[in-house]
Amino acid sequence: MLVEKNVPLQPYNTFHIVAKAFSLVRVTGVDVLDQVLADPELAAQPRFILGGGSNIVLTGDVRSLVLKVEVMGRRVVQETDKGIVIEVGAGENWHELVAWTLDQGYPGLENLAMIPGTVGASPVQNIGAYGLELQDRFHSLDATDLVTGARYTLDAAQCGFGYRDSVFKHPPADAATAALGDDGAPMTGFGLRDRVVITHVRLFLPKPWKPVLGYADLERKMLETGITTPDARQIFDWVCAIRSAKLPNPAVLGNAGSFFKNPQVTREQCDDIIQREPRIVHYPLDNGAVKLAAGWLIDACGWKGKSVGNAAVYERQALVLVNRGDATGGEVMTLARAIQTSVYERFGIQLEPEPVVV
Ligand code: EPU
Repeated sequence: MLVEKNVPLQPYNTFHIVAKAFSLVRVTGVDVLDQVLADPELAAQPRFILGGGSNIVLTGDVRSLVLKVEVMGRRVVQETDKGIVIEVGAGENWHELVAWTLDQGYPGLENLAMIPGTVGASPVQNIGAYGLELQDRFHSLDATDLVTGARYTLDAAQCGFGYRDSVFKHPPADAATAALGDDGAPMTGFGLRDRVVITHVRLFLPKPWKPVLGYADLERKMLETGITTPDARQIFDWVCAIRSAKLPNPAVLGNAGSFFKNPQVTREQCDDIIQREPRIVHYPLDNGAVKLAAGWLIDACGWKGKSVGNAAVYERQALVLVNRGDATGGEVMTLARAIQTSVYERFGIQLEPEPVVV
């Protein structure tokens, strides 16, 4: 196992923020985690788990030991007439996985094309787009506990998925004693942030394949093209085109995707806002609450194109903050806080950032 020192993190975060890791270990397999835990000096250090760096804002150099997950491999582990289970190394690139599944003739992930980041990060924030969330295709995952060294398999319930949320985003109540069930796996309800490393994710692609077409942008594509029964490849191509038109390519313009979650309000709160703001974009949810489009709220406050230093609000989608060149994490967060204040003052709604601030 190699412990690299003073590693530049700019290539490893999609915001392209300049920062370094004092120490970094590349986790190519569970054996590397065993070696980290067996080393008294490394085992005692706080850790930061880095996947594709597509959902983080670095506000300074990282003093914790960075575990960069680079576990590779993808294979079909089960195929029945109900569906296919695919097991994927956490370090694999998410979009390349989606493209690979289609090439193999396994549809089901096409709505999630072009989401930046790694497979291991996909359950952490329960990635979602165009009417589909990771949890809709999730089977189970393998994780290694950084406190006990135990390995376990977690199902969807144990991952505690919510909208852009899971147990992996929340710090443990008490890292040393977070409760383990009889099977050694953590009990639902306890945060696992920086406590476990996800090494493999298994996805379930149901048979027969059914397209997910409810999202407005996809309905528009069907109308424009006259294609009413698209296949998975067609949906993949549409999603790639929609994303390319709306969202900045992180390879060209640093960003972390949507910077805020779409807030949920009660029906009464929504009616109250509609009285004042009749054009507000809102979607009723099955649970009776209403989801508001954060991008619309920010746009309505006039933020498109505005900047703090080199951090700016993307001109074509106000929910995305971008790095116009050498932005610091501090500039990004100053801009984010100014947006939160103005949305709160106008609408009475507190926006919650989506990325993890490091
Ligand atoms: N809107 C505006 N102005 C803007 C941005 C959006 O008026 O500047 C309006 C749009 O016209 C539309 C509505 O807001 O009526 C929603 O916009 P959009 O369809 O672009 O989706 P979103 O709610 O802004 C969410 C996800 C995206 C995901 C898309 C498609 C969140 C936080 N974001 O964005 O996810 O790709 O839906 O499903 O849920 C991400 O998480 O990084 C991400 C990009």
